[in-house]
Amino acid sequence: MINRKQYCVANLKMNLSGIQIMDYISELDNLFDKSNNNKVNTIICPSVTSLSIFFDYIRDNNYCLGAQNIHHKEYGAYTGETSINMISDFINFVILGHSERRQYFNETNEIINKKIIKVSQHSLNSIVCIGETLDQRKNDEVKKTLKNQLSACLQNVKSEVIIAYEPIWAIGTGETATSKIIVEAHQIIRKILNDIGFDGQKISILYGGSVNRNNAKELIALDDVDGFLIGGASLDVDHFYDIYKFIEESF
Ligand code: PGA
Repeated sequence: MINRKQYCVANLKMNLSGIQIMDYISELDNLFDKSNNNKVNTIICPSVTSLSIFFDYIRDNNYCLGAQNIHHKEYGAYTGETSINMISDFINFVILGHSERRQYFNETNEIINKKIIKVSQHSLNSIVCIGETLDQRKNDEVKKTLKNQLSACLQNVKSEVIIAYEPIWAIGTGETATSKIIVEAHQIIRKILNDIGFDGQKISILYGGSVNRNNAKELIALDDVDGFLIGGASLDVDHFYDIYKFIEESF
């Protein structure tokens, strides 16, 4: 079996105030202390306003920071936006192509592609989210959807990326994809990656969609799953840590 990097990623979305984030950090510090053996890459992706708070408080911890989005340009008249050069000192990763960004902010594969290229120009890593809607699944369009997303998002991308398979119908719904669905999708993704010039066996593919402490152990045991992108359950540090432990114990 190929040894791919394993990830435990918290997507805090638009949650937690400045005060709440300080409590969150101190709870994280207690759990993710130096005694952890660092086998799992733990990435916390808070709101952009909390990145600098995290950065000020972050000590010698076994986790690093990611952003939930960036603009695809470096600077300019884009009111309310954040560019990679504003936050690149704080982060190592950027989540891109999340279905909520596609759905509510009209992000297309072409824009996501520009963002991925921008991230790689700063020598940072993208966590690229892909996944089908329920209708696409019912219409037997999973393969076609994943192929369209991957080939457009990764066009001219030469750097290493992490893929997060997040079936849209499983995000925030409490309805996790079955092991069979996840394994099939991850195998399809590896094959598509090979077809478009990547080494599909070497790229880490995370699963995301209602991951919690009750299903994480079963899901991380699947060969093709290299960790999780966790939304709701990551807001509770104890819950997030339980999921992290399942990944760590799976080695
Ligand atoms: P969820 O979110 O764990 O709350 O389903 C996952 C995600 O949106 O990345």
